[in-house]
Amino acid sequence: MIIKKKGPIKGSMTVPGDKSISHRAIMLGALSEGITEVENFLMGDDCLSTISCFRSLGILIDLESSSHRVTIHGKGLDGLSTPANHILNVGNSGTTIRLLSGILCGQKFSSTITGDSSIRKRPMGRILTPLEQMGADIISANNDLKAPLKINCSDKDSLLSIDTNHFLRGIHYQSPVASAQVKSCVLLAGLYADKETKVTEPALSRNHTELMLSEFGASVTVVGNTASLLPRPRLTGRRLNIPGDISSAAYFIVAALIVPNSELLIKNVGINPTRDGIIRVCQMMGADISLENIRKDGGEPVADIFVRHSNLKGIEISGSIIPTLIDEIPIIAVLSCFAKGKTIIKNAEELKVKESNRIEVIVNNLSAMGADIRATYDGMIIKGGNPLHGATIDSKMDHRIAMAFTIAGLAAEGDTQILNPECVNISYPDFFKSL
Ligand code: S3P
Repeated sequence: MIIKKKGPIKGSMTVPGDKSISHRAIMLGALSEGITEVENFLMGDDCLSTISCFRSLGILIDLESSSHRVTIHGKGLDGLSTPANHILNVGNSGTTIRLLSGILCGQKFSSTITGDSSIRKRPMGRILTPLEQMGADIISANNDLKAPLKINCSDKDSLLSIDTNHFLRGIHYQSPVASAQVKSCVLLAGLYADKETKVTEPALSRNHTELMLSEFGASVTVVGNTASLLPRPRLTGRRLNIPGDISSAAYFIVAALIVPNSELLIKNVGINPTRDGIIRVCQMMGADISLENIRKDGGEPVADIFVRHSNLKGIEISGSIIPTLIDEIPIIAVLSCFAKGKTIIKNAEELKVKESNRIEVIVNNLSAMGADIRATYDGMIIKGGNPLHGATIDSKMDHRIAMAFTIAGLAAEGDTQILNPECVNISYPDFFKSL
């Protein structure tokens, strides 16, 4: 894929449904009694992996791809059945493997969960620790704290006679990392626990699991950075309308900010405060960006975002804002190249364990485009103002890298070549068409 300098970007658009919320809609729909109808579902490869896993677990799911509609025929908390060969494949999806592992630990059947070569390199010790504390028998098959993960539930029959359906212990888990995947894994396992499950995290990560569990009828309380869930709720199917994904909107927000004379309205975007760090960063940098028509849909705040090309200044991005923009750091790094002065990104070590080592990949690719950028152990320092020029960008098959550098290419002199651009299918199959 070759990207050439282009502009201005004008008009109005929508972005596809939120990836995190789409995953959770399938999972909670499956564990609910009755039908869940989902509108604006993200038909990206990661969410399709979640659908495929739940179909393997015996859940009937109807897909209308062209209208982004999904119907899930939920079977309740105990309605999942043994997958063929006991194996589930999550493809490239970190959210699927970590959240589904929590659910699988609460089942009466054993299973093995695995994924593609990227997933098999990502750390799973972060979920093995709390799940073991809850009494689950879950091990990493190669003893390296990575997938495949084997979940052994074969001795639950004896447990059953003692206390029906309470397979796990409720715990209070102090998570060392601000990760919604870890928090959600523990809370979903907590559906099958004997008493309340609590998770405290060092900074608040995205709270879609807590919000959606409440919407489906679970008893969830949140105090500060601690979420608590009472076990064995009766979840009931419902209608859900998924807001546009702010992580996908971020590419177009930045495109409008860095391409001269641009003016763009992005309609129906989720602006949950645990996800809106990108908006706050744009505001701190001095961007002309505003939220219009703010409303709530299915427990999630939504708005239309209006953004214009702006003169920007560098800032420091660190601390509790990091989990609210963790997936946007590749595109924020691109934005920072167009801001006057230094942008410092700190406390973002988590970038090293995403679909690629994003600190390394961002720094290498932006350096190749002529940016003044340096990696640090937990982030990067970018001196804005150097004009970017085209280069060959190795996306490392990481969707967020491919999209961020496509946007960089719009404002760079000469041709930018994106290798393996098809990886955008993970979260935004129509990205190039929208652009
Ligand atoms: C996600 C949580 C985040 C994020 C990922 C989606 C989720 O990961 O990076 O893209 O849906 O819960 P971590 O929980 O590992 O930070």
